[in-house]
Amino acid sequence: MSLPYETHEYDVLVIGAGGAGLRAAVEAAESGVKTGLVCKSLLGKAHTVMAEGGMAAALANVDTRDNWKVHFRDTMRGGKFLNNWRMAQIHAQEAPDRVRELENWGAVFDRTPDGKILQRNFGGHKYPRLAHVGDRTGLEMIRTLQDRTVEKKINVHMECTIYRLLKTDHAITGAVGYWRESGRPIVFRAKAVVLATGGIGRCFRVTSNSWEYTGDGHALAYLAGADLIDMEFMQFHPTGMVWPPSVRGILVTEGVRGEGGVLKNNKGERFMFKSIPDLYKADTADNEAEADRWLAGDKTARRVPELLTRDHVARCIVREVKEGRGSPHGGVFLDIASRRSADYIKKKLPSMYHQFKELGGIDITKEPMEVGPTAHYIMGGVRVDAETQMATIPGLFAAGEVAGGLHGANRLGGNSLSDLLVFGRRAGLGASSYAKGMKDIPQTDDGQVERIVKEMYEPFDRPSAENAFTVTSDLQTTMEANVGIARVQNELEKALQDIASLKERAKKVSVVGDCRYNPGWHQVLDLNNLLICAEALTMAALSRKESRGGHMRIDFPDSVGEEGKWNNVLRQGGEGQMVLEKQPLPEMPTELHALAHDEKAPQ
Ligand code: FUM
Repeated sequence: MSLPYETHEYDVLVIGAGGAGLRAAVEAAESGVKTGLVCKSLLGKAHTVMAEGGMAAALANVDTRDNWKVHFRDTMRGGKFLNNWRMAQIHAQEAPDRVRELENWGAVFDRTPDGKILQRNFGGHKYPRLAHVGDRTGLEMIRTLQDRTVEKKINVHMECTIYRLLKTDHAITGAVGYWRESGRPIVFRAKAVVLATGGIGRCFRVTSNSWEYTGDGHALAYLAGADLIDMEFMQFHPTGMVWPPSVRGILVTEGVRGEGGVLKNNKGERFMFKSIPDLYKADTADNEAEADRWLAGDKTARRVPELLTRDHVARCIVREVKEGRGSPHGGVFLDIASRRSADYIKKKLPSMYHQFKELGGIDITKEPMEVGPTAHYIMGGVRVDAETQMATIPGLFAAGEVAGGLHGANRLGGNSLSDLLVFGRRAGLGASSYAKGMKDIPQTDDGQVERIVKEMYEPFDRPSAENAFTVTSDLQTTMEANVGIARVQNELEKALQDIASLKERAKKVSVVGDCRYNPGWHQVLDLNNLLICAEALTMAALSRKESRGGHMRIDFPDSVGEEGKWNNVLRQGGEGQMVLEKQPLPEMPTELHALAHDEKAPQ
């Protein structure tokens, strides 16, 4: 099949219209360069709207002891010190300005009694730090940024999927994709391209991620020759819905615990008291009386153990279920009904109230929820420069979940929305100043475009052999069974073998019908991206013989401490093989090292 293609030219092309993509596009447009935005879905329908609990920024509105240094330390400790320290520093320092800027652009945050932006508690954050809008913070963020995008007259190409990046030997020069509705090809010539495509959660069967999260940006960057880092670190959010089966995995915001919800097993025990990691003992209550005092607002009490980091909480839930103390449908209980009034719950957690009522027939103001871990967020991603967000290929930039580094081995809740704002802006700036350094938009290599377009339509010409949905489902089955929360060598090896044979099957996947809105064809293209991400995740998980953050090895249950401080770098080797290289982390300046590691300082 060969169809004529249309061509668009931009100084900066942004792929993805979630929080990072919109923020990058706004920044690039404001800096005066011609900016285009492409999104797989409709504008405003980004997965960012599913980020519920808030954005972390040390505004110190609720607890005046907070500042960027404490936020930096919390982020590094949460990431088990594998974070790119410079990104963690920039993030902690710039997040407050980005939140205030969003407010100036029209975001309506919940307020303190004296009219400041209200902040709530979240896991791993020492002080109440999450600026929020009930449990609909991501939605408000997208609404605000979308308004700004429209105001800046940024050209948006909706329901358009990017299939490959265009490049010369040295640099990225654009992208090739197709309109989802007509199936017609579309070519973008650009001086710089920003990837803001989100995560890879659709590699797993149980996930909080929406349909768009098929690792497109990770795969585009990898196929263009860029480095990916730390792909073994997948975050399983402790609380997804577990019942009914049709909604298993949908997010139950950490805001429920931030607002006072507690976790219980089927014996009614608050099982989180059982194992508090050494790193958090000084901050965490180990008995109900103290935890209840903290919940009641006593600032001298230590925090509730339900707000330990997500990796730890998820593992405790798995333990309770495995040892027979789970809820009827394989989770545990999350109870806010016995802790807060119905009015409070409906005001602070309106989406949760409706979600459980409509989808599960549960009134969370009267009864506990059943929750369990769900694949939520990939900490690894495209390796970027901390200042500019440029990838290891000139002209390619990445921001948000598709970029690696900031969160290390485990992300703190709420650090994602502030990441999107801080590094979305920086990527927009980085891309626009790179573009300003070039005189002309690079010429398109017609031969390259022809080859890509031909390959894109190839599944239509294959004899009917394999079905894309079946192969995707088989991939999700093996990832869920073998590369989930608790990993072990032989299962990881099994997953790698499965992925190898699924890659062979994927080559035989065929499509019926034509290219006009054809979900089977879209699935073939998504499947190839998912396979690249699944292979990277599994290879990196196999090579890291220790447990750290989101990566837990049953056969290597301990962290190897300082010795584990390397990045797993994955890239395309010769003959299209994926290769992995361990690289030491960049050294942290002494004063930041002291900040990150010292238990006592900063206060
Ligand atoms: O639990 C939540 O509301 C999720 C937030 C996040 O992942 O940052």
